[in-house]
Amino acid sequence: IFASVPQAPADPILGLVGRFKACTAEKKVNLSVGAYRTAEGKPWILPSVAEAEKMVISDTKLDKEYQPIDGKAEYKRPVQELIFDADVIDSGCLATVQALSGTGSLQCIAQFLKFMGVTKVWGPNPTWGNHPKIFQRALLEYDMYPYWHQESRGLDFEGMIAGMQKMNEGDCILLHSVAHNPTGVDPTPEQWQTIVQVCKERRLIPLLDNAYQGYASGDLAKDGYAQKLFTHSGLEFFIAQSFAKNFGLYGERIGYIHVKCASKDAADAVLSQMKIIVRQAYSSPPQHGAAIVNKILTTPALKEMWLKELTFMSSRISDMRTALRGAIEAKGTPGTWNHVTDQIGMFTFTGLTKDQVVRMVEEFHIYMTADGRISMAGLNPGNVDYVAESIDKAVRG
Ligand code: LMR
Repeated sequence: IFASVPQAPADPILGLVGRFKACTAEKKVNLSVGAYRTAEGKPWILPSVAEAEKMVISDTKLDKEYQPIDGKAEYKRPVQELIFDADVIDSGCLATVQALSGTGSLQCIAQFLKFMGVTKVWGPNPTWGNHPKIFQRALLEYDMYPYWHQESRGLDFEGMIAGMQKMNEGDCILLHSVAHNPTGVDPTPEQWQTIVQVCKERRLIPLLDNAYQGYASGDLAKDGYAQKLFTHSGLEFFIAQSFAKNFGLYGERIGYIHVKCASKDAADAVLSQMKIIVRQAYSSPPQHGAAIVNKILTTPALKEMWLKELTFMSSRISDMRTALRGAIEAKGTPGTWNHVTDQIGMFTFTGLTKDQVVRMVEEFHIYMTADGRISMAGLNPGNVDYVAESIDKAVRG
């Protein structure tokens, strides 16, 4: 029965993690997956998370029963507050569902779009490699709008707006709400205002993928600018909120879907349908990580600790941007390297060609994605010079 099943290729991002682990080279660097690492190159359990976890484990009120299909009702407000103002939450116009981090949230939203009769989703070119596959699996058409401008290594804003003008009423537009993956290039506040305006004019359905709130600036409110703008625009839209990166809860699969609706009645109906999707896909969401997030967000001392940790992580990454750029420029490597410090969030889109990336991986054992993306969190004072030196060699050919 299974003899005809073809072998699938390894995942372009997570597959590299396996290759890095298996690599026996003395000098190797993992810049592949977007996961925070300490200055010693180790995964980091946030101290606020460790503290909250102890409290959760000793909480006698918590059992191991199933959570409600859409997650615990009392857990919703604190996570909504990371994005929405109190009046929006109080209006009842939000349908909020705890889901399996970013990917799981997007998966449910994709199925919901299909259920609503949406036919087409537009994502930025480039985008996170999993995006197109998620929507295509839900049998939605997927196409791209211009985003990256190769020459300036910045945003192709004119191209993006022209691309949006070609979209049809009722199409879904996928946007990264902050710290675009893989480019690290975001629209400015003024550009976001135009984007919102065009979404309105073209009657598009926005879907904001919020995987890195807090990672661009260390400030949740600043990183939440686009979400606020959409909220106050009167548009109805989706948000996929991931807690993998900003709480460091990668393996716990914690996140939330928020659907901002025009009325409470609409939100109630949307919630009822989302619950059907969740029930059929995985029944109900995981409890442990959700309880940790809730404990942090509802315990003022822990919340303060977490906010400081966010600032700490984003500033370490930003220091690495300065260090990498400095080291490359000190070598006089051909090309301009200001984009290393101009880009934001977890990634730098280096501009290295496919062949140069192959050399980085095969010859220097620096694991990075084929599109030239490096995870800045994988850099540290102990490896940044080696990475700069290898980039220099790869560029000089
Ligand atoms: C990444 O882009 O590296 C992260 O979002 C992790 C993943 O699941 O791909």
